[in-house]
Amino acid sequence: MAERIIPLTDHRSRTLQPPLAALEAATRMSATGFLGDTLGRPLHDLRISVTDRCNFRCSYCMPKEVFDKDYPYLPHGSLLTFEEITRLARLFVGHGVRKVRLTGGEPLLRKNIEILIEQLAQLRTVDGAPLDITLTTNGSLLARKAEALRAAGLQRVTVSLDGLDDTVFRKMNDVDFPVEQVLEGIAAAKAAGLGPIKVNMVVKRGTNEHEILAMARHFKGTGVVLRFIEYMDVGATNGWRMDEVLPSSEVIKLIHADMPLMQLEPSSAGETAARWGYADAQGRHDRDAGEIGVISSVTQAFCHDCNRARLSTEGKLYLCLFASSGYDLRELVRGGASDADVTSAIGHIWSGRADRYSELRSTLSPDTPGGTRRVEMSYIGG
Ligand code: GTP
Ligand code: 5AD
Ligand code: SF4
Ligand code: SF4
Repeated sequence: MAERIIPLTDHRSRTLQPPLAALEAATRMSATGFLGDTLGRPLHDLRISVTDRCNFRCSYCMPKEVFDKDYPYLPHGSLLTFEEITRLARLFVGHGVRKVRLTGGEPLLRKNIEILIEQLAQLRTVDGAPLDITLTTNGSLLARKAEALRAAGLQRVTVSLDGLDDTVFRKMNDVDFPVEQVLEGIAAAKAAGLGPIKVNMVVKRGTNEHEILAMARHFKGTGVVLRFIEYMDVGATNGWRMDEVLPSSEVIKLIHADMPLMQLEPSSAGETAARWGYADAQGRHDRDAGEIGVISSVTQAFCHDCNRARLSTEGKLYLCLFASSGYDLRELVRGGASDADVTSAIGHIWSGRADRYSELRSTLSPDTPGGTRRVEMSYIGG
């Protein structure tokens, strides 16, 4: 039997850093619609994890040996309620948030998620526009839920899919889930108008790199934007090794040799993915063929304009995917803090932010904050 791996970090016992009380004592901050951190990076995206559970066991995220039947998932009472999430989202929006992504775990496992989407869809940005509301899903429940999600006000979805070969896919999700059902989910999302649909493929050298070309061919010309993600050292349980990272440059080279590519301009500041379009015979972007993206947080860190805040399932605010502790906003909310109090706390937290883990990765020791004592991605949201 495989040895049981004990996670290095019990995220639940972590204290605030620094205590919110210290922030409260500082000058009060109000919402101005723009909030910059110490590196001038604006708060723009809010990624909300709505559950720490998932029905898949991808080895790079929730390895079976750790996330087994004895794993201490959060009890229901610890989760932020939909009302608490919507209230916090509204206060974040006051600081300039324009995009909200629901994540997990698997967000479609959260009961009545449509109700949360309906509530979030009522919010307006500081410019009076609707929020860009999206959701990351493994696609297993999408065929069943796409219509209802769209009706609730969800605009688009991103589906995780690590290969088309059924054997490879079943092995990667590690619960023997068939690829066909995820493809049906993508088709249902398309039919429901949840576009532009993105498909995220985590590439692990030696595991699914031979699926790269098949995936590119499959999605070319379908309107779906396929993105290849470098396998990252998130969390403390996936046994990450640099030799299992396939650099995005190799992905591009491989596809380009078969289907010529050209680099495209970023569509917005702070984007995770570098965009590449399929080129026509004249070397121009063939819009009908579409584009792919590469997310290269290991070989080409993009922290310099990272504008993403993460709200964990139980209401802790994390300033980086690789953070080892978060700020307990639930404690504030359940303690009766006013909107102005919470707004001020968020303002202080973000304006003190200096995180840029991926840029520093190679210089950090395992024991420094942001070293390997990190929260799990299934808890903080992908
Ligand atoms: P779009 O608005 O659709 O472009 O979404 P996005 O790319 O901002 O978010 P998405 O959840 O699709 O991100 C894809 C993957 O990129 C995630 O699953 C992570 O693997 C990685 N990723 C996203 N945000 C960050 C980040 O801030 N830092 C790092 N290192 N990786 C990130
Ligand atoms: N490396 C890169 N991406 C990861 N994800 C989860 N774990 C990792 C990892 N170790 C991302 C994938 C997946 C989403 C839910 O989280 O993009 O699609
Ligand atoms: Fe679940 Fe997504 Fe993590 Fe896989 S990557 S275990 S589908 S949350
Ligand atoms: Fe942002 Fe942290 Fe990712 Fe860098 S490593 S891009 S700071 S979340």
